[in-house]
Amino acid sequence: MSMQGIHIVATGTALPRKVVTNDDLSRIVDTSDEWIQTRTGICQRYYCEEETGVTLAAEAAGKALEKAGIDRNEVGVIMVATSTAEYSFPSTACLVQKALELPTEVIAFDVSAACAGFLYGLNICRGLLQSGNKKYALLIGSEQLSRLIDFKDRASCILFGDGAGAAVLELSDAPFWHRAWADGDAGPLWGKGPGYDNAKIRMDGREVFKFAVRVLKQGIDAILEDSGMSMEDIDYVLCHQANKRIIEHVSKKYPDCEDKFYTNIAQYGNTSAASIPILINEMTEKGLLKEGMKVIAVGFGAGFTWSSALLTI
Ligand code: UT7
Repeated sequence: MSMQGIHIVATGTALPRKVVTNDDLSRIVDTSDEWIQTRTGICQRYYCEEETGVTLAAEAAGKALEKAGIDRNEVGVIMVATSTAEYSFPSTACLVQKALELPTEVIAFDVSAACAGFLYGLNICRGLLQSGNKKYALLIGSEQLSRLIDFKDRASCILFGDGAGAAVLELSDAPFWHRAWADGDAGPLWGKGPGYDNAKIRMDGREVFKFAVRVLKQGIDAILEDSGMSMEDIDYVLCHQANKRIIEHVSKKYPDCEDKFYTNIAQYGNTSAASIPILINEMTEKGLLKEGMKVIAVGFGAGFTWSSALLTI
């Protein structure tokens, strides 16, 4: 049985103005455009200058609300998935509430589940809407990863970018399934919190790569099994954009369905919790996602955390 699910009413994104190309990075670390494109599929990413994770979150959420055209008093939840909150407190979600003059009677909080944060958030928002008395949740993934990049580590510094994606959500009876996992180990991917010296991203890229291929497949297969669907029933698979090669490895496990794995990492790099809402927004604007389509969204991140969902567009 499908659970009562979540429908995305509208999405929005926000990106910093500054574009950082692979050639720009090759001027500060020992790398090349050719290496980065071949190993990751990334051509460029965006870094904040005057923007912050808060301003990006508010801008993306403002656009999503504008497109949704809903009564803002009906927003009962503001949740920001982020690993790079500007403040330990208050939460980014509280600052978004004020910036957008959303109602003060609202549950506003941040969630830390790394790159799986937006997908964790779908089910958290679903539960809160079911138990609350308002119609809509505002779920945002926003990251300012450029603050945590160690430019002495050429394997990790080339991956990450800043950005935000937001979605207005409502409850729906259309098919929806959701799974989430956690397996705590700060070994292969971690960053210390505020107050620690050198709180930069630390990563064992090869370990993360192998883990990612395994759990993205696990996430997709679990959702197919729960829903009784096969890949033929699915219009698109929206993977967390961490590395194009990871997504290609996973897609090859589903023969004849490789073209369902849409990627846009070339333009943004890995924007962690923002990558999936940025992907959904882009595909909607390009007319690729149409009402009634079934998509599987699947992501993984530090923790490790991983999660997958079947959404009806
Ligand atoms: O949201 C989750 C976040 N993290 C990830 O998803 C990361 C997953 N892992 C990856 O994406 C890849 O492992 C990386 C892109 C990080 C690295 O690619 P790789 O194909 O696994 O490279 P490698 O670590 O096996 O290194 C191969 C070589 C090494 O040189 P030697 O030892 O063979 O001489 C590295 O020193 O490539 C070298 N290398 C580079 N060369 C040029 C590593 N980084 C770079 C670089 N430019 N930026």
